[in-house]
Amino acid sequence: MPTALVAGATGLIGRRLVRLLIESDDYDRVHLLVRRPTGITDDRLVEHAIDFDKLPDAGEDVGSVDHAFCALGTTIRTAGSREAFRRVDHDYVVAFAKLARDLGAQQFAVVSSLGADPDTRSFYLRVKGETERDLEALGLPRLVILRPSLLTGDRDEFRPGEKVSQLLLGITSPLLVGRLGRIRPVSDEQVARAMLGSVKNEGSAVRVIESEDIRSV
Ligand SMILES: NC(=O)c1ccc[n+]([C@@H]2O[C@H](COP(=O)([O-])OP(=O)(O)OC[C@H]3O[C@@H](n4cnc5c(N)ncnc54)[C@H](OP(=O)(O)O)[C@@H]3O)[C@@H](O)[C@H]2O)c1
Repeated sequence: MPTALVAGATGLIGRRLVRLLIESDDYDRVHLLVRRPTGITDDRLVEHAIDFDKLPDAGEDVGSVDHAFCALGTTIRTAGSREAFRRVDHDYVVAFAKLARDLGAQQFAVVSSLGADPDTRSFYLRVKGETERDLEALGLPRLVILRPSLLTGDRDEFRPGEKVSQLLLGITSPLLVGRLGRIRPVSDEQVARAMLGSVKNEGSAVRVIESEDIRSV
């Protein structure tokens, strides 16, 4: 049975993903790289409390892995500055992918964002696009990029902007058909399920899953 490695396990999507990994019975070991405990317990789970600035050194206690999942991310508000945001959403994600590759991961699934584009004027989406570009350059055996629209789910942290967007998109959701379907919100559960499902397929070396396709993975 394969071994999984997860970064971002304490987040909205990551926490869902860990529960699905445990429930699936498809993995005999699930390693989590965290900076605080998840509070989830299971015989197959191994939590590694690490300093994410030293990600390259984190592999020693993990050993080899088959599938790696990245749900790391922050906001500029929480991180405190654009630089601090970029360190998490770009630098840590790329460093985690390098580590996963070096530990033998055959599949790497990462949560990016709707509209990710290295050439856009939006700082957030540009960082997401640069991250995707730099992940592709790593030559991972297989890279799956998920680009969700606004996420729904129970979050401990209060994010006013996210709440307002959820309300607006929630009300207008039935009208979001055709090309507008791509901005319809998706749940943490749907994204986590798509991450898990996507690494079970072989296929192209790089697969990008747009928001409107996440429900059907
Ligand atoms: N929110 C949305 O509507 C939306 C839409 C599209 C895409 N996305 C993207 O989806 C991904 C997952 O989103 P989410 O809402 O599940 O994320 P989240 O709940 O904010 O969780 C993020 C994860 O990253 C970790 N993290 C953040 N800063 C860190 C740091 N400095 N060092 C180490 N770990 C750190 C968190 O650990 P701690 O628990 O220790 O903080 C947590 O495990 C993100 O990349 C996000 O940009 C979000």
